[in-house]
Amino acid sequence: MIHLKSKEEIKKMRSAAQIVVEVLNTLKESVGPGVSTWDLDRMAEEVAIKRGAKPAFKGYSDYPGSVCFAINSEVVHGIPSKKKILKEGDIVGIDFGVILDGFYGDSAITVPVGKISALAHKLLQVTEESLLKGIQEASPDNGLFDVSRAIQSHVEDMGFSIVRSYVGHGIGKSLHEDPQVPNFVPGNGSSTNGVKLKPGMVIAIEPMVNVGNPDIKILSDGWTAVTVDGTLSAHFEHTVAVTDKGPVILTQ
Ligand code: MF3
Ligand code: CO
Repeated sequence: MIHLKSKEEIKKMRSAAQIVVEVLNTLKESVGPGVSTWDLDRMAEEVAIKRGAKPAFKGYSDYPGSVCFAINSEVVHGIPSKKKILKEGDIVGIDFGVILDGFYGDSAITVPVGKISALAHKLLQVTEESLLKGIQEASPDNGLFDVSRAIQSHVEDMGFSIVRSYVGHGIGKSLHEDPQVPNFVPGNGSSTNGVKLKPGMVIAIEPMVNVGNPDIKILSDGWTAVTVDGTLSAHFEHTVAVTDKGPVILTQ
């Protein structure tokens, strides 16, 4: 069941989302060679708590960290660790969410560590562009899969692939609500255009894009998803409200 949010509720969601933005900005500025994902996780928790919010992922399905990281061929859900030390040339996905005043905010970025390869740079650019193209379609009367299609076409036109095993989601009083938001059009082109988007829907759109094959596997820690072929992967996410004036990015 899809929960439509009132203007008041969307205002609350924006407050939660703004704390996520502050945390991601802080972490982005702190990323560099020699920094561990553990250090970054501590920082995120500190900023969130200082703002009166609670990290959303810690304890969710027993996830042990506050932030989900993804270095290079990791796709999502890497656990913070003192042993995971960033080095020049890496790309690192940073995925963070909070709950504030009963509502969740959720966003992710992938950032370069120092100077990165041209291929890595292209991957980051295309993945973020695909998210923005998807968001542009998040208007009332469009179908949900208009969002999915915009993301998928851009990524595939650029020669990269969309991860199928994870999708975006509705968000509100729960971190994960209906509808699921795929970054690809489900079925074989014959299916419907998905649910009709309505003012008051709030969705987390989060393309995960691989340089090579879309297949992923989970490491023995039970969380870290990596590309099966070892190629680079990137992830960007925004929490977006569908309004009568069109899409509004809350995590901006
Ligand atoms: N941002 C991710 C999501 O939207 C991370 C949550 S998984 C967790 O699903 F278990 F780590 F919380
Ligand atoms: Co999410």
